[in-house]
Amino acid sequence: MTTVLVANGPNLGRLGSREPEKYGSTSFDELAAHVMQWGSELGLEAVVRQSDDEAELVRWMHEAVDNGWQVVLNPAAFTHYSYALRDACALVTSAGLTLVEVHLTNPHAREEFRHTSVISGVASGTIAGFGVDSYRLGLEAVATRLA
Ligand code: DQA
Repeated sequence: MTTVLVANGPNLGRLGSREPEKYGSTSFDELAAHVMQWGSELGLEAVVRQSDDEAELVRWMHEAVDNGWQVVLNPAAFTHYSYALRDACALVTSAGLTLVEVHLTNPHAREEFRHTSVISGVASGTIAGFGVDSYRLGLEAVATRLA
């Protein structure tokens, strides 16, 4: 079965209680359960992780390359300024693996600093603004590209 690493950046572990008017009321654990269920419906094994640590996210991208894992990534605030994570994402896509950047909110409809993604230019594609469904759509994009 194809493995998809569903990696989540800083503060996403606080989903459910973090600014629910923006990010919704689904907790991170509930999101992880949905993602694993959606993945199995698509024939994908989803490995769901979250870290507040940039270095750990970089290491996870290296792990995806080494293991041939597809990636769905919500880089959270690192989206807007982490060149280290961008370079690690470039390793994933240049290895021929799919990397879908996902966001719960639509960053382009928010503060100006969120309008820039340093990740998008090296991602296979981006899905933003559909709440937790962004992850389902991201998994569908991975499955579609593999078909
Ligand atoms: C986010 C959007 C980012 O701007 C923000 O820093 C996040 C979450 C989203 O999923 O909408 O932490 O990536």
